[in-house]
Amino acid sequence: MYHAGIIGTGSYIPERILTNHHLKEMVDTSDKWIVERTGIRERRIAAEDETNVTMGVKALERAIENSGIHREDIESLVVGTNTTEPVWPSAGGHMANIMGLRKDLPFFDVQAGCTGFNFAFSIGEMFIKGGQYRTVAVVGTDKLSAITDYEDRNTCVLFGDGAGAVILKRTPHEGIVRSHLGGNAKSRDLLLLLKKGGAGNGYIWMEGRKVYTFARRAMVESCFRVLDPSGTAGKKELRALFEQVTKIIPHQANARIIMGAAEELETRLELPPGEAKNKMIVTIEQYGNNSTASIPLALDISLRTGKIKKGDLVIMVGFGAGLTYAANLVRL
Ligand code: COA
Repeated sequence: MYHAGIIGTGSYIPERILTNHHLKEMVDTSDKWIVERTGIRERRIAAEDETNVTMGVKALERAIENSGIHREDIESLVVGTNTTEPVWPSAGGHMANIMGLRKDLPFFDVQAGCTGFNFAFSIGEMFIKGGQYRTVAVVGTDKLSAITDYEDRNTCVLFGDGAGAVILKRTPHEGIVRSHLGGNAKSRDLLLLLKKGGAGNGYIWMEGRKVYTFARRAMVESCFRVLDPSGTAGKKELRALFEQVTKIIPHQANARIIMGAAEELETRLELPPGEAKNKMIVTIEQYGNNSTASIPLALDISLRTGKIKKGDLVIMVGFGAGLTYAANLVRL
């Protein structure tokens, strides 16, 4: 087994801002309701001619620049996404063409709801740890505005667009410690695309409350599993492992889900109040839930603003349609 690490990050968000005040002109809602129930004040919406592919390209260009590699060094491209139109050929191939990546590059999309980035990341990790490739690009990119029903107040206040990318590389020392991937296929009907009027892939529909309950529990379980894969650690040992974690980068779906998961971590590990909450990175206020982009975007912003730095131990933890959930434990 080889070691793998993150050597560069990048992100892209569209210019257009959709605020809560814009939304209250569109559906029966209020800024107060949205802020109190979700923590979101605004989200970014892609232009007509922007897609998951064009946003992914911009994020990956920035990650390549940040890592100091040449684009020809990339040996594989793994793209977490849910909004490729038409659904095939893959967004990865389209991105590789636009960017002029190497001719024989293997590329593919991973479709695991909003957990797609965590899954794609874990595949990239395994490619490197197993010795198949030395340098892998992993992207999370979604244009959720294309599948959001702006007449449904239950969903349209939550979602936005964006992209994030990381470059993974074989490293002399351990960077990516491990990943945990989870699923609950029986709950697939809680979050799906429903056809409305027959066109396109349909629009997001969900049982918000049930997804909320699942998400809070699943994020805590995945944090535990990535710290203690065998599930044998006692509370004291698990707490000691958790205390080594500098920050948690959760999927930005709802600030209450993030803080609820933190409270549950504090209760189950008998931590002082605030200890898990203070570790949570929250960017949702400005960007909403942009699906597979939310974690790599928060990672990139946090590194660039100094909220986290090289040497820190972070958990990236997410959940999404499927239902799926996952976490990646990484020494930056
Ligand atoms: N503005 C005003 N009222 C709204 C509203 C909006 N945008 N959306 C829903 N409501 C209403 C509901 O109709 C309901 O009214 P009722 O009591 O008269 O029936 C009331 O607010 C409470 O609804 P409820 O669904 O219980 O609210 P909630 O506290 O669970 O918050 C979500 C709703 C969607 C914000 C929350 O459940 C959530 O975030 N779920 C997870 C969703 C998610 O993350 N999905 C993506 C996963 S990747």
